[in-house]
This record gives sequence, structure tokens and C-alpha cells, in this order.
Amino acid sequence: MALTSEPLTSITLTPRTGAEVKISREALLSGSHSQALRALLVARGVLVVRDLHLTDAEQRGFARTMGDLRLGTVKKEGDEGLQKVTLDETENPDYARFFFGSQLWHMDGTYEEVPPFATILTPRVLSNTGGDTEFTNNYAAYEDLPDSEKPFLDTLLVAHSMQAALFPAKPDCSPEEFALWCGYPVRRHPLVWRHKSGRKSLVLSTSASHIIGMHPTESRDLLNRLMAHATAPQYIYRHKWRMGDMLMWDNTGTMHRVLPFDARSGRRLHRFTLNGEEPVTATL
Ligand SMILES: [Fe+2]
Repeated sequence: MALTSEPLTSITLTPRTGAEVKISREALLSGSHSQALRALLVARGVLVVRDLHLTDAEQRGFARTMGDLRLGTVKKEGDEGLQKVTLDETENPDYARFFFGSQLWHMDGTYEEVPPFATILTPRVLSNTGGDTEFTNNYAAYEDLPDSEKPFLDTLLVAHSMQAALFPAKPDCSPEEFALWCGYPVRRHPLVWRHKSGRKSLVLSTSASHIIGMHPTESRDLLNRLMAHATAPQYIYRHKWRMGDMLMWDNTGTMHRVLPFDARSGRRLHRFTLNGEEPVTATL
């Protein structure tokens, strides 16, 4: 189905999640479409533009037209905000330590009071096998729940922790690794995020440890059931990377995961992150 969001033209990638935007490189980088792109991003969860082949400077420049760029630690000039998503430890010594967790469904930054708003990725080296990235739409997943269940879910608070996120992905971790994960703060977020737009989404992630005040078995059953619901095929967009792509996701309304790939492939994507603009807010 063609979507026309003047002056943007886009096509839906799946019925519930993702849109491919048809826009020239010049128009994209000019920033004159940033408001329309932001609206489409929040509506569809994921935006893809093909055949752009952006440089780091162009990708950063585009990110700045879309929001508040997270600068992080600048290691060398020209790297402001750039994160290299790669298992090559000479390029990024930190990523490999936490990579295994990226293969489970998650939101980024659930340990933060204000999780990041969005992420912009471009591929620089791809694996010949695997390495697709999948996304859900947590707005759509919430909206499709029975109306009779929503008022109760709207009241729940969930504890998110690094050890909850990583232990299932690496149960044979060393005691030192486990201690490192436990050093991250545990954050409580409402299960249902009432965004400033008025829309609601599920705040789900493998980092969800338990529902505050609920019996552990009941809590685990409910989180598992909601995770199964939100990751059902009708909500998933699977992105098959091509060189030249730019992909952006709304981290506040989606989950993502990377599918396995050849660890020797040198797969590398360049990432810029936009800071969050609103804390996770309860309906209460
Ligand atoms: Fe992630």
C-alpha cells in the first residue's frame, strides 16, 4: 500500500510495522522533511531508505535533523556520536562484551530513566550469511490487546535489570561477568507507556525481570505471554540489509534483535543514537 505523507512518499513494509521512504539524498539531508519523517517513524516503528550510501558525517548530519544526538565518548575527531556495531574488538571493544544480548528481543536503554528515542544505522560491512535485524511494533501490540485487560495492565510496574537481560543469553557466564551486570542500576518502568502523544505502547524487553508486587510465577507467566504476543509474526518486520541502506527505529515503541551471522565476517554497522525526549510515563 502506498502511503502519502506530504511531501513524503513511502510504502508499508508489513501491515503493522515498517515503512520504506522514497526520498532523494538531497531532500533527506536538507532536514526539511524531518517533522514528517518523525511522524512516520512513530507511526510505523521503523523507516528504511535504500541506496543512500551515507558517509559518517552525512549520517550524523541527518541524525541531528531528527533529534538530540547522543555524543557519547568521543575517542577521536570526527567520531562524535558514532558507535561501531561490530564484533571486531579493535573497532569497538565494548560491543563484543554485550553482543550476545542483542540476539534477544529488547529495547535499548531500559536501565535509563529516559530511554533513547531513536537509532539510525547504516551497514558498512555485511555478513554473507545471516545478520538480518528484526523489529516489533509495541504500540500495535498494546492496541490489539483485549480492552478488558488494558486497565489492569496500565497499573503495573516492571523492574528492568542488566542481569535479567543477559543471563538468559549466557547462562554459562563467569562470576565476574555476572557481577559486572549486577553493577548496573535496576530501573522500574510502567508496563504500559502513555506517551506525550497520548498513544500507549508496551514497555517490553528481555531486561524485564519481574512485575513489582506480583507473585513471581504469575509475573513470569504474564511477561512471557505479553512477549509472545508482541513478537507474533504479524508485528514483525525483518530487515535484510543491503549496502547503501539507512534504517531508523523508534526505540520507544519497538523491540529489536539481530539474527545470528558469521562472527568472522567483519559485519559492521555505523550507529547514531538520539536521546530520549520523555520518561516512561504511567497512565495513573
Ligand atoms: Fe539494541
